[in-house]
Amino acid sequence: MEITKSPDYEVLGLGAPIVDQILGVSEEFLTKIPGSKGGTLPVDYVTMCNIVKESKAEPLFIAGGSGANTIKGLAHLGKKGALLGKIGNDPLGKKFLQTIKSLGIVSLYLTTETPTAQVVSLVTPDGERTMRSFLGASQEMQSDDLNPAVFEGVKLVHIEGYSLQNDQDGSLVKKTMELAKNAGCQISFDLSSFEIVERHKKIIVNLIADYCQIVFANRQEIKALAQCEPEKGCDILKDLCDIAVILQGRDGCWVGQGTEKFLYPAIPVVPVDTTGAGDFFACGFLYGYLQRRSLQECAYFGTLLGSAVVQVIGAELSQELWEELKQQMS
Ligand SMILES: Nc1ncnc2c1ncn2[C@@H]1O[C@H](COP(=O)(O)OP(=O)(O)OP(=O)(O)O)[C@@H](O)[C@H]1O
Ligand SMILES: [Mg+2]
Repeated sequence: MEITKSPDYEVLGLGAPIVDQILGVSEEFLTKIPGSKGGTLPVDYVTMCNIVKESKAEPLFIAGGSGANTIKGLAHLGKKGALLGKIGNDPLGKKFLQTIKSLGIVSLYLTTETPTAQVVSLVTPDGERTMRSFLGASQEMQSDDLNPAVFEGVKLVHIEGYSLQNDQDGSLVKKTMELAKNAGCQISFDLSSFEIVERHKKIIVNLIADYCQIVFANRQEIKALAQCEPEKGCDILKDLCDIAVILQGRDGCWVGQGTEKFLYPAIPVVPVDTTGAGDFFACGFLYGYLQRRSLQECAYFGTLLGSAVVQVIGAELSQELWEELKQQMS
């Protein structure tokens, strides 16, 4: 008799592993780098290294990327996870691995000689952020790199829409979902970016209909996908997958499943930095889902974590705050 061993993780995330570096810089420094103030602009590796070196700032390193943020949050809540993707064989890659391993997350990352993906957030004295990105190793993940064995016994596979960024025919995401479905996993999908939805609309509709149980989309993403407003979008999406969640920032979220649909209000807070809001919402919602809580409770957990992360700079919460949140969720 064949004995299948359960993996020591219950959630598996696919996404781009990105090291975020936060650097304090002067207004004058911004005039010396490519592009204008604000926004996110892709740059090449040499330009990225020069920006970091010439800023002369001591960078604050954070292991980021949308899917990784969600899996890291779940680890804080006691849900053991694993992460899939491609990382560079370099000091930044090692830093990334150290962080996720310290949270007990299993690294299923493959390595390449291309440098690890990184995003620098250049924070000027006025508090504004100017981001420059180099997606390097993260873009080299391909469908052929997937090993069916890593899906066995996993409860939930969470996939970020950014995985479609460099995937012209959607084969990486499709094969991931196919292997996950064959292994009996539940699948959640965060659409990530309206530009990606616009570019891959047909592929995304098919992926949702064929494989997904839970889909997260914000206002712009649902508009790009279904040409409609959030409430109507929630109706369309819930009929396509199973559970639809349409995020509307401070205006709360629409959640729908079957004949049930409701608007869950956001918690009124003063945001200081909205980085990670969607990732943390997904984390809270999925935590509730894994705990078999009601849809209302899942929405509450998502809202709670979303509101917590917008009140701090960056997409990480202190251990103290995690303890507080866990109490509120128990
Ligand atoms: N200004 C805010 N005030 C209160 N809660 C907020 C605010 N912004 C975000 N949130 C919470 O975080 C959740 C997710 O944020 P949002 O709707 O901005 O998702 P998103 O557009 O996918 O974000 P991201 O760009 O991070 O992916 C919201 O549904 C809400 O619960
Ligand atoms: Mg989002």
